[in-house]
Amino acid sequence: MVIEELKKNCIPRHVAVIMDGNGRWAELHGNDRIYGHRQGVDAVRSIVEGAGEVGIKYLTLYAFSTENWDRPKNEVNALMSLLVDAIVKEIENLNEKNVKMHAIGNLDSFPSDVQLKLAEAIEKTSSNTGLNLILALSYSGRWDILQMVKQIVSKAINGEIVEKQINESLIVNHLSTSGIPDPELLIRTSGEYRISNFLLWQIAYSEFYFTPILWPDFRKENLFEAIADFQRRERRFGKTSEQIRS
Ligand code: IPE
Ligand code: IPE
Ligand code: MG
Repeated sequence: MVIEELKKNCIPRHVAVIMDGNGRWAELHGNDRIYGHRQGVDAVRSIVEGAGEVGIKYLTLYAFSTENWDRPKNEVNALMSLLVDAIVKEIENLNEKNVKMHAIGNLDSFPSDVQLKLAEAIEKTSSNTGLNLILALSYSGRWDILQMVKQIVSKAINGEIVEKQINESLIVNHLSTSGIPDPELLIRTSGEYRISNFLLWQIAYSEFYFTPILWPDFRKENLFEAIADFQRRERRFGKTSEQIRS
């Protein structure tokens, strides 16, 4: 798949990715799971580049879920150091590519060095105007909905909002993705067909793309293929095909 084959006027603004299959990739290559996670960074670099090239405005990557804390301690620790290393190493490259970094999730749950490096990277890329790269870290869709409910309830108790002001846009404005449009396209690698508690509210009308490719093998050409598939679909939003075509 080459970039020239994509319709320029139909590029999703926001693509979300469940980067799955690092462990199985490592096993296939006779190595430990950590090795698979390390190789996954090359895939991230490639799709960040590809996303910029096709003009995607928001790319959200599910890097660590709330549930991933329950993995063996050595794997969690390795993921933490890999995260810090990758952020520190890639920051210059991200700046050159005009990428603005963001993070969503329960960031307070991370060790302080991870929080610090993350905050630094966000700060150093804050004036960039190209691709918005959103890392979902210690993230889950239910966590997001829960923290939104807590914020709204506390504002209601303080008298800042009244019941009739509670509508969809109020909810959207209190989710961690506030200000970011919903993803038009959600990609999951590794042949699993589930959401695993990723964005829940936000994917109400997303198109899903599943591929058997394991994350460390995923490259920007595969992203372009997913976009081409997206472009062949008819998004009806509850209407009839006839209504959409007229
Ligand atoms: C995805 O790969 C990375 C994270 C969840 C952090 P996995 O580690 O889940 O790889 P598999 O699913 O075991 O192959
Ligand atoms: C989803 O992958 C989370 C991330 C990619 C960060 P998992 O590998 O954790 O999902 P399950 O447990 O197989 O559903
Ligand atoms: Mg997995």
